[in-house]
Amino acid sequence: MTDSAGTTLLLGQTLSFTGNPFESSIQDAVHHETRGAVLLRDGHVAAVDQADTLRALHPLARVVDYGNGLIMAGFVDAHVHYPQTAMIASWGKRLIDWLNSYTFPEEARFSSKAYASEIANRYLDLTRSHGTTTMVSFCTIHPASVDAFFEAAQARGQRVVAGKTCMDRNAPDDLRDTAQRAYDESQHLLNTWHGVDRLSYAITPRFSPTSSPEQLEALGALWRENPDCLMQTHLSEQTDEIEWVKGLYPEARDYLDTYEMYGLLGARGLYGHAIHLTDRERARLREMGAGLVHCPTSNTFIGSGLFDMAGLMAEGHRVGLATDTGGGSSFSMLRTMAAAYEVGQLRHTPLHAAQLLWLATQGSARALHMDDRIGNLAPGMEADLVVLDLASTEAIAQRATRAEDIWESVFPTIMMGDDRAVRAVWINGKAG
Ligand code: GUN
Ligand code: ZN
Repeated sequence: MTDSAGTTLLLGQTLSFTGNPFESSIQDAVHHETRGAVLLRDGHVAAVDQADTLRALHPLARVVDYGNGLIMAGFVDAHVHYPQTAMIASWGKRLIDWLNSYTFPEEARFSSKAYASEIANRYLDLTRSHGTTTMVSFCTIHPASVDAFFEAAQARGQRVVAGKTCMDRNAPDDLRDTAQRAYDESQHLLNTWHGVDRLSYAITPRFSPTSSPEQLEALGALWRENPDCLMQTHLSEQTDEIEWVKGLYPEARDYLDTYEMYGLLGARGLYGHAIHLTDRERARLREMGAGLVHCPTSNTFIGSGLFDMAGLMAEGHRVGLATDTGGGSSFSMLRTMAAAYEVGQLRHTPLHAAQLLWLATQGSARALHMDDRIGNLAPGMEADLVVLDLASTEAIAQRATRAEDIWESVFPTIMMGDDRAVRAVWINGKAG
């Protein structure tokens, strides 16, 4: 094929996944080129190969040379609350108090569409500068908060998933809907946005304590009617929360059962946190192929507990990685990988750098059932890329000079990197 004016060749180190580094050796799961190239055409990755090979094949392509920069898939953040951007890092509370003291008052401000748009754009600016190209976001109870987020993402050509956060009990008056309104408003938003450009709708009951059984049932029905949508919620984050759920749903076998009873358990379900699971819950989630989302900075920040990554991966669960902004204390998936590493260490199961990078891209994309489109650097994938500078600060650079392979060279950036390590971000084939 002849190169059109829209063909671009990026040069640098390249990192692609050829397998799952939790299931096969690192060598089998990863392909790294020290002097590699990525050919972009029509918003997609057209080829990944050695630089010399692609330069010879595509002499007319526009070249962007990132030197030693590491080109890989953009980060996929599988669980965030964009409305919590302005109250991130709020001090001293655990989950329920944190929600009541900080979160709900901030979410009430999203009754203003103008405020929602301001924060949506701020959030997307911040995450882009940290290398995140796709995220799955909770919005607030207000339909306009969903419109604001999708409009902002659409203008940037970004692939995002979001939904109206439904609550009809145990929340302030101005943050409650009803079972019927949750159904009607979610259905309207879904019909408006799902499948438009790169946007997808997720049916979003916040969590069992803030929904009546009737509301969960209504949203379960909506999911049954729209089975290609994702459904996102929270599961077993803190032990107090689990006790509360037991009291609210005395007939349920466990926390997961409160979702299962109402049709809210499925392969396209995303269950945030999933820390304190019973054996039955683990088996059932595995059987359904449901997505578990690990939010390590949130779990340490709010004091929730230590996610069992090694055990769940060994059982074959579908696991993604997420910031959980603003219960999580960061917008950065690098910082989030570092926290996942630290949680692994506290459980005596350290994660390899390849596993961390896989979780932040492929793992999350798999949880979203979008791994055929995003989360890897491979021909046919959408051109959402991040280019990392592996010597972005003096502290990182001096450590990286000792590196003997790509993993020793990338791990200091995972552990100590921030937005200064993000040299470039490409979204939908365009550099920002
Ligand atoms: N559980 C229910 N709502 C939330 C939330 O906004 N953040 C976190 N971390 N957990 C929740
Ligand atoms: Zn959350």
